[in-house]
Amino acid sequence: MKQLRELSYEESVLIWDEERKKSFLFVLRPGGELGTHKGKILHDEIVGKAEGSLVLSSTGARFRVFRPSVTDRMMKVQRKTQIVYPKDAAWFVLAMNIKPGMKIIEMGTGSGAFTILLAQLIGPDGKIYTFDKREDFLKNAKENLKKAGLEDRVVFELLNAGDSFPVKDVDAVFLDLPEPWIAISPAWDALAPGKSIAIIVPTAEQLKRSVETLKDKGFAVIDTVEILERRILVRKKEGVRPFEKMVGFTGYLISARKLL
Ligand SMILES: C[S@@+](CC[C@H](N)C(=O)[O-])C[C@H]1O[C@@H](n2cnc3c(N)ncnc32)[C@H](O)[C@@H]1O
Repeated sequence: MKQLRELSYEESVLIWDEERKKSFLFVLRPGGELGTHKGKILHDEIVGKAEGSLVLSSTGARFRVFRPSVTDRMMKVQRKTQIVYPKDAAWFVLAMNIKPGMKIIEMGTGSGAFTILLAQLIGPDGKIYTFDKREDFLKNAKENLKKAGLEDRVVFELLNAGDSFPVKDVDAVFLDLPEPWIAISPAWDALAPGKSIAIIVPTAEQLKRSVETLKDKGFAVIDTVEILERRILVRKKEGVRPFEKMVGFTGYLISARKLL
């Protein structure tokens, strides 16, 4: 059986309310308290427990404690912008063939949600170069990466879309910008031959213009998709069926590869 590593002060934990399907992410501090709608949870009572343990609030409500997953980290960033959702992020990871040790350019750092996933996947030997035109967003994203313990793998820099990237021969470029076509030519110059560019845009007009620019520039193997995700209710008595509410649309996803 796997050796259990007990939860300790200064690490992040996720408290899960099974009944309300809600979770809270926070750092364990000596004497700390988490206020919930079902009473207080004392940090001191979580320290020393193993993941998956039961935690009782001051009113006796039942919670479970875990170390946060990368999805928890992405969804619970301090949000200053729209973020890339996990369902789309997963497609991008495959489309760009993300692996340990890769050197990646990201433009449109935003809140750093997607940066967190990339930074986890490239491992300690990889590097993410992330660019944004807003210094305040870069600062906030850096803080989010720091909370996830991944800031050492990321270089944050101020840059305007259209300017050439200060790194070359990269393994992938990801663009999350209102006008991604402006950054396609600099992306071509920065990418190693055969490697991928990926783009997310919220409208069909942006999708069309991005694809046309990719073709004009000489990119190939162009793919364009939209990912729909439906939660399924699995119930004993009422039957199994999709949940009636869903996030209807998050963006159009594009990927393409640079030719020699
Ligand atoms: C939707 S957010 C990116 C979200 C990010 N992918 C995430 O998951 O958190 C778009 C970002 O693009 C940046 N941006 C917009 N126009 C830009 C430009 N011309 N040059 C550089 N960055 C730009 C914005 O400041 C914003 O932070």
